[in-house]
Amino acid sequence: MTLPRQSRSADGPLIELADVTRTYVMGEARHTVLDGVSLAIGAGEFVAVMGPSGSGKSTLLHILGLLDRPSAGSYRLGGRDTGALSDDDLSRLRNQAIGFVFQSFYLIPYATALDNVLLPGLYSDTPGGRLRRRGEELLAKVGLTPQAGHKPSQLSGGQQQRVAVARALINDPDLILADEPTGQLDSATSAEIMELLASVNREAGKTVIVVTHDTATAAYARRQIHVHDGRVDNE
Ligand SMILES: Nc1ncnc2c1ncn2[C@@H]1O[C@H](COP(=O)(O)OP(=O)(O)OP(=O)(O)O)[C@@H](O)[C@H]1O
Ligand SMILES: [Mg+2]
Repeated sequence: MTLPRQSRSADGPLIELADVTRTYVMGEARHTVLDGVSLAIGAGEFVAVMGPSGSGKSTLLHILGLLDRPSAGSYRLGGRDTGALSDDDLSRLRNQAIGFVFQSFYLIPYATALDNVLLPGLYSDTPGGRLRRRGEELLAKVGLTPQAGHKPSQLSGGQQQRVAVARALINDPDLILADEPTGQLDSATSAEIMELLASVNREAGKTVIVVTHDTATAAYARRQIHVHDGRVDNE
């Protein structure tokens, strides 16, 4: 399952949230973490999501990434109503259409850099030889060809995050979602990772959404979205 072709044209936004609410029920208490979020993001945009700790940024990103579902409201991705999809369909769509980058890299410690990059591709239909070549090309793109056989523990934080960016691209997704991708990196290394994400947006035309606290990181994006108490400030 892939996004319908028209999702990549200028026909409509890639992402459309309409009045999305996410509520957690804890005992008697209901905790509203996202409170009526409406948002449209077009194909090819580079967006930073900012806001204080606990405001709901990661919750929003998890919904955009099909890792979580809204409690109410709708999420259309590529024109398709994700609320109508089964969990299996969502997993397939997530694997094929979305690449993830997280603050703590989440690399498999006992696998090489190349094998980490290939991992999401193992759940796709891409034949092994082609997948491996693509993994090698992506490692070259992020400047890590000499480290292809290294384990994560043999790599610096910035190198590990570059492996994670290559991994996010292995299935050629339309959408890259990054949650505090520079949160564990010094400012020079953060700049390298943001340059890399900017080039993925610019050269490959991917839609990139980065959650960050950091204004220097957010400055790489062409649009900023601010979240406060579960609400998105409308620009
Ligand atoms: N699984 C959960 N169950 C209950 N409450 C949750 C759950 N996940 C998140 N929350 C609550 O939702 C609110 C928003 O959390 P979220 O992780 O989205 O914030 P955030 O903006 O990403 O914060 P940070 O900048 O610290 O990462 C917080 O109050 C958090 O405690
Ligand atoms: Mg968060």
